[in-house]
Amino acid sequence: MDYQIAKGVFDILPEDPDPEGKWREVFYWQYIEKVARQIAEEFGFQEIRTPLFERTELFTRSVGATSDIVNKEMYTFLDKGGRSLTLRPEGTASVMRAIIDKALYQKSSMMKFYYLLPMFRYERQQAGRYRQHHQFGIEAIGSASPYQDAEVIILLHEFLQRLGLKNLNLWINCLGDHSCRENFRQSLQNYLKPYFQELSPLSQLRFENNPLRILDSKDPKDQQILLKAPSILDFLEKEAQDDFEKICAILRTEQIPYQINPKLVRGLDYYNRTVFEITAEELGAQNSLGGGGRYDHLIHELGGPQLPAFGFGSGLERIIQTMLSQKGLFPPLSFVKVYLIPLDEQAMSFSFSLLTTLRNHHISAEMDLSGKKLKIAMKRADTLKAQYVIVIGEEELHTKQLKLKEMATGNSNLLPLSKIVEVLKK
Ligand code: HAM
Repeated sequence: MDYQIAKGVFDILPEDPDPEGKWREVFYWQYIEKVARQIAEEFGFQEIRTPLFERTELFTRSVGATSDIVNKEMYTFLDKGGRSLTLRPEGTASVMRAIIDKALYQKSSMMKFYYLLPMFRYERQQAGRYRQHHQFGIEAIGSASPYQDAEVIILLHEFLQRLGLKNLNLWINCLGDHSCRENFRQSLQNYLKPYFQELSPLSQLRFENNPLRILDSKDPKDQQILLKAPSILDFLEKEAQDDFEKICAILRTEQIPYQINPKLVRGLDYYNRTVFEITAEELGAQNSLGGGGRYDHLIHELGGPQLPAFGFGSGLERIIQTMLSQKGLFPPLSFVKVYLIPLDEQAMSFSFSLLTTLRNHHISAEMDLSGKKLKIAMKRADTLKAQYVIVIGEEELHTKQLKLKEMATGNSNLLPLSKIVEVLKK
């Protein structure tokens, strides 16, 4: 085909013909987006939608010039006015830009936003990594309290629980404040120096500019070298350490299982203090379902006031894939409640007015307009996962008694026309 879909992106369809592509079916997307909205709103967050592209400097400045995202993954282009623009690779920077742009902090110093938005990263193609992925994100701005960290971590945990996900691990770490990271960076470099030649090429590159990211390395040799590396937790300032202990205590009180991982640093430069990630055991290398942390200086660095903040982003593709492989909690799949099949032209007009009546009562209904055989119409009802089917022929027109067939059980219930709405509304 001449017009194949671009690499690393995908269509979300009502039904995907590829058995491996079930996760791309729209039903799953609508469902988890609904649960995400519901839980975000229960926790007091409001939706925000930012533009698909921003000025490139926004991401260079916030995500960080040494990060993989800025270095090699941004979709950057010049517009007709010669300005450099970039397709949003992540949500946090855009939300902070919106807050500063509109001086939203003047109205309230506490802001709680959530988003469900596509992100764009020029990634090497592999399972779990897409060039357009979708995030459910949370940003809580204005509080430095450890309870804020805990609230947001609990929100992500609760979201994944409600979707019925199992075998998850919550990893948490503290990156401390500026002096902690400076001292740790020095100590880590001193430790790694004698091993420099043995490090992977990527870690060698990171050695000068961003040595903390070496801790994230998936290379087995690097991991072996890192076994005896210093731990950032030994460098925490007193206040950071107290807050970190408090966050862990809150998680224990709320019975959220967690594991401290002093090697968790995450790939974006704006974090200080708490960082966290939730991983799924069966996902393989790209196993992070979501992650985030505290970024108390980002708003100020972007030209706004000094406001502490905490958030996360979670990838909807990986969440749906994990739900499907774990047979997670999905509601029964159904695109319409009732499917009407008229058998001839006369039944058509009767069915059409019944269709209108059902819809006026907010019952999702669809009618077969193909004029094809009953067998084909039944197949369509099946594709739409209709809960009920009503076949309307001469007899039904005459008696005004309709057979409501429940598709899951095959049982039929004979009802007078006047009772149909009442029964379907139950
Ligand atoms: P991130 O770790 O880069 O963080 O992305 C968050 C989540 O998005 C990941 O845990 C993963 O589930 C998903 N994800 C990332 N890249 C891809 C990809 N190429 N394909 C599929 N899924 C992907 C952030 O973006 C931060 N803005 C999170 C945050 C919000 N921190 C504070 N507030």
